[in-house]
Amino acid sequence: MKKITVIGAGNVGATCANVIAHKELAKEIVLIDIKEGVAEGKALDIWQTSSINNFNTRLTGSTNDYLKTKGSGIIVITSGLPRKPGMSRDDLIRTNAIIVKEVAEKAIKYSPEAIIIIVSNPLDVMTYTAYLATHKSPNRVFGMAGILDTGRYKAFLAEALNVSPKDIHAMLLGGHGDTMVPLPRYTSVGGIPVTELLDKDEIDKIVERTRKGGGELVNLMGTSAWYAPGAGAAQMVEAIVDDQHRILPVCAYLTGEFGLKDVYIGVPVILGAEGVEKIIEINLNENEMKLLHDSAESIKQTMTALDDMHLFGEPEEK
Ligand code: NAI
Ligand code: 2OP
Repeated sequence: MKKITVIGAGNVGATCANVIAHKELAKEIVLIDIKEGVAEGKALDIWQTSSINNFNTRLTGSTNDYLKTKGSGIIVITSGLPRKPGMSRDDLIRTNAIIVKEVAEKAIKYSPEAIIIIVSNPLDVMTYTAYLATHKSPNRVFGMAGILDTGRYKAFLAEALNVSPKDIHAMLLGGHGDTMVPLPRYTSVGGIPVTELLDKDEIDKIVERTRKGGGELVNLMGTSAWYAPGAGAAQMVEAIVDDQHRILPVCAYLTGEFGLKDVYIGVPVILGAEGVEKIIEINLNENEMKLLHDSAESIKQTMTALDDMHLFGEPEEK
């Protein structure tokens, strides 16, 4: 791909740009930030690893000059405040919605064809914010969180079983938050259902630790995680650039799938050059379906909170 833009050159954005560069997924990566010099500095620093890490991708950093992003095929939005200890993701809604709206509008002006990947929190409602701001088809505006949450789940399972994380396949649904829905029934280790390898109590503990995985890191570091989130967003970029048709958990817009409508939520999708090419409606039992609907309900409340801010004018009469 010719150009990829990453907005927000903080912990997650810079990590994402670094992984994209290592994988040479674009000829050029443009990093944008509002803080004078930060994007320029990080772009220069990553570029100076090119001969060490053996890549050709050029990096450009800019303080707020969106002209430099012109013609990007993918825009990754990571700008916004991260969580501090004691803060929920929802505490961030107002501040980050204003930021996400502004940067999405500016970026899309110069790259109207771009696919947009949102990372800023609260993830599900920020993805909805970018969708409202860009007026694009929802299959080209979606969010990253499920890859991170699944990555945590797989890491905990690999540790508990003392096996390679590469052999673990798993799917996780729902919002990025305490209502996420890990699916042990759809988890296998080298093709063996995880339920044959661990007892229910052990799986329940891992599911609970996964749900609180973001908070665990905030408590340890005083800010939220960046290596796994940055790598998760880069994996989505890779699936799009190489038209991989990967099946990944993505925050996508539902139009009736799983009995849910008009909500952005984590679901399994096929991700390729056109963005979300298909939402895979896996079979859920009664309990899994209830958990997914509860999660959608909690996301809808944050979407209503966003609508009530009237950032996009008065809602139309329904
Ligand atoms: P950070 O504070 O390290 O970086 C954020 C950057 O955004 C800062 O450099 C800041 O100057 C920049 N920024 C703020 N307003 C801007 C604007 N109007 N234009 C351009 N840049 C602007 O934060 P970090 O750790 O990189 O997190 C970024 C976001 O990603 C947060 O909202 C965080 O909660 C979220 N996050 C989401 C995850 C997910 O799974 N979806 C996982 C981890 C973090
Ligand atoms: C995480 O899960 C805070 O969303 C961020 O690490």
